Amino acid sequence: MSTFSAKRVRADTPEFLRVINDHPLTYLDSAASSLPPRSVIEAMSRYYELRHANVHRGVYQTANEATDAYEGARAAVARFINAPGGAEEIVFTKNATESFNLLAKSWGMANLRAGDVVLVSEMEHHANIVPWFQLRDVTGVEVRFLKVTDDFRLDLSTLDDDLRGVKLLSVTAMSNVLGTINPLRELADAAHRRGALIAVDAAQSVAHAGLDVASLDVDFAAFSAHKMLGPTGLGVFWAREKLLEAMPPFLGGGGMIADVRTDGYLPARGPAKFEAGTPPIAEAVGLSAAVRYLEYLGLEHVVAHEKMLTADALARLESNFSGRVRIIGPTTTDARGGVISLDVEGVHAHDVAQVLDEFGVCVRPGHHCAKPLMRRFGLVATARASFGPYSLTADTDVLIEALDHAIKLFG
Ligand code: ALA
Repeated sequence: MSTFSAKRVRADTPEFLRVINDHPLTYLDSAASSLPPRSVIEAMSRYYELRHANVHRGVYQTANEATDAYEGARAAVARFINAPGGAEEIVFTKNATESFNLLAKSWGMANLRAGDVVLVSEMEHHANIVPWFQLRDVTGVEVRFLKVTDDFRLDLSTLDDDLRGVKLLSVTAMSNVLGTINPLRELADAAHRRGALIAVDAAQSVAHAGLDVASLDVDFAAFSAHKMLGPTGLGVFWAREKLLEAMPPFLGGGGMIADVRTDGYLPARGPAKFEAGTPPIAEAVGLSAAVRYLEYLGLEHVVAHEKMLTADALARLESNFSGRVRIIGPTTTDARGGVISLDVEGVHAHDVAQVLDEFGVCVRPGHHCAKPLMRRFGLVATARASFGPYSLTADTDVLIEALDHAIKLFG
């Protein structure tokens, strides 16, 4: 029997002690950033209090401990995403955005030529669009978009044709606006049949739907620690070991070399090749603790809990605000995560979010760094509520009460 308790997760998460505008915190913005549990915060504090030293350089005890902790984080992430080649496939970056820049500027520059196609989708975050346009502007590659259907799914009706000439398919596992979960294994199989590789934006899915890179048979993945109960300032880039080995370095400097002479340099092997300069050590310690915490919760229980919350919220939003509030995303929980974008008729998303804040409710208004998707649906902004493992149905109660107030105020 499951021992998962969202209330216990909430008790483990200190930010819920906050009172906002005389209301307890109703945090519904986990898609923007998740709230770390005490174990993550304490692991980072303990590291700074007792073990801080630079990694891969010193020979003294604390330096070795810091190196072990940093490399241990790589192993924890590899385990969490089932990386077939283990820790050697895990590169630490600044965030998921930097991971996509690494992919485009290293693998893309080395492997793509004018006329090659990178296929993304209309539901991508700018992090998985802009680096490809930047690459296009230098190399002449073509950037194409898979369409999104009127019911907020990827249009796969002509997928095999859409993959003609494609060298890389780069898609999100879960839309940060729609909540849509994409059929990655089907996409990976289709891409591979056409000789293309597949990259996955797992920022929204890794801690809410899981990411098993081996069974999905994908080639690259990007995500960030702060969306999986870890700290900001740390992202992950995963690639199959063979691909990573063949990729040239992205940033140059200390730590990423095997040798430097007056006539050139030799890059290091393994993930170090992509980690120039002092890396985010404390953040890696925090991510290790976040992974341990998610493993302790059991991701399958987190997924089931958030599915229950999503089904409940979708049903109640529909019954309370039918005709006034449009849900921009699938209205069933099939292949869908706990990200719910709302378009309140006649009220700007920023006004909605401002009124919600008076009730202590945190949602994100705006285009969510997904402007092509917004344009696809004729929107400028949505107010987006998103769940985490600490979310409760009581949060939806407050959301509905606050939304009702906003509608009456502006209506
Ligand atoms: N990408 C994050 C979001 O969707 C910041 O809010």
